Amino acid sequence: MRPWLGDEEAAAAAAAIASGWIAQGPRVAEFEAAFAESIGAAHAVALSSCTTALHLTLVTAGIGPGDEVVVPSLSFIATANAVRYVGARPVFADVEEATQNLIPQTVAPHLTDRTRAIILVDQTGVPADLDSMRALCEPNGISVIEDAACAVGATYRGRPAGATAGVAAFSFHPRKLLTTGEGGMIVTPDGELAARLRRLREHGMDVGAVQRHASKQPVIERYLETGFNYRMTDIQAAIGLVQLAKVDRMVARRRELAARYQHLLADIPGLAMIRDPAHGTTNYQGFWIVLPPWFPVSRNELLRMLAESGVSARRGVMAAHLEPAYSGEPRPHLPVTEWLTARSVTLPLFHAMTEEQQDHVVSVIRAAAAHGVQPSPRHQAVRDYSSAMGDRE
Ligand SMILES: Cc1ncc(COP(=O)(O)O)c(C=O)c1O
Repeated sequence: MRPWLGDEEAAAAAAAIASGWIAQGPRVAEFEAAFAESIGAAHAVALSSCTTALHLTLVTAGIGPGDEVVVPSLSFIATANAVRYVGARPVFADVEEATQNLIPQTVAPHLTDRTRAIILVDQTGVPADLDSMRALCEPNGISVIEDAACAVGATYRGRPAGATAGVAAFSFHPRKLLTTGEGGMIVTPDGELAARLRRLREHGMDVGAVQRHASKQPVIERYLETGFNYRMTDIQAAIGLVQLAKVDRMVARRRELAARYQHLLADIPGLAMIRDPAHGTTNYQGFWIVLPPWFPVSRNELLRMLAESGVSARRGVMAAHLEPAYSGEPRPHLPVTEWLTARSVTLPLFHAMTEEQQDHVVSVIRAAAAHGVQPSPRHQAVRDYSSAMGDRE
């Protein structure tokens, strides 16, 4: 991933600095309003990251010691860590192979009378099936929190991902489409929840800094509960406002490049690739491939070949339960998660990527696939595709 940042973001950040408001101020409020509108959500609350957003969703759900929260192990480790922050236990469930997301069939066996919530991740921007998870959980009093860290610009059942969630948390880390450096946002239809989140991000204060400074009279604030400093700055929000206006273009270009990868790699037998699920569209935040069992080189060997050819690829999604931080717990049975984390690679995909750069990535994968095999006409897809595209190129 390479963020798509330019002069406009630089000018917006400079204007925030020149204004004198550099901590959370009017630009954060403006960014929240614009983000809520873009999602079609009633409320948006900006935070310092998606990790802090997930933490606050668990605090406000009243989850604590003795409670269990079902999460995918196949996620960035922040998803599971947020559960530990409130003293609850993350319970790892397996994912569906095609979408890399939790589904009711993988979650149901883990529900107990201690289960208070599920964190449903839209992994790599592939929207998870929120409705079927809510149908499983909500009749049993279990909340569904959408971890939409990767999902800005993805859609679920015709609406932006997060639009129909009780609570959804987004990330603006530079690995995501829309970036503010660090940053996060919670969207919710619940006004009372939004008000409490605003309070909790600001030390539990009953009146925000902008309101205090706007008043002609001294305002003595009160601290209603133990809060946190999880604020976004106005410099970040200024950048976010510019980025938000570019999201549609970012998604369009990523979808074009993703379709091209899918076409160029289509004839490698059994090679799985990220795709739109039946119930929505992905923003292709991460273009992953999963190597089939017959593939002649290991995943790490392929990463090495890519690196030696000047291609910066990464492993696919990590599995939290395999990390030392979680080794104290009994090892869960997660065959799909372990398969995916061992066999997947995230290919370069960024707004300014050229077709030549993409052809180069594809040529390394095809060379790896043909390792020890005589090249055959079947391995000439890059050339075939280029001529099929004719004068477009
Ligand atoms: C699924 C998921 N959840 C949470 C996070 C944490 O987001 P942040 O870096 O904004 O704290 C990430 C970041 O990569 C993520 O991918």
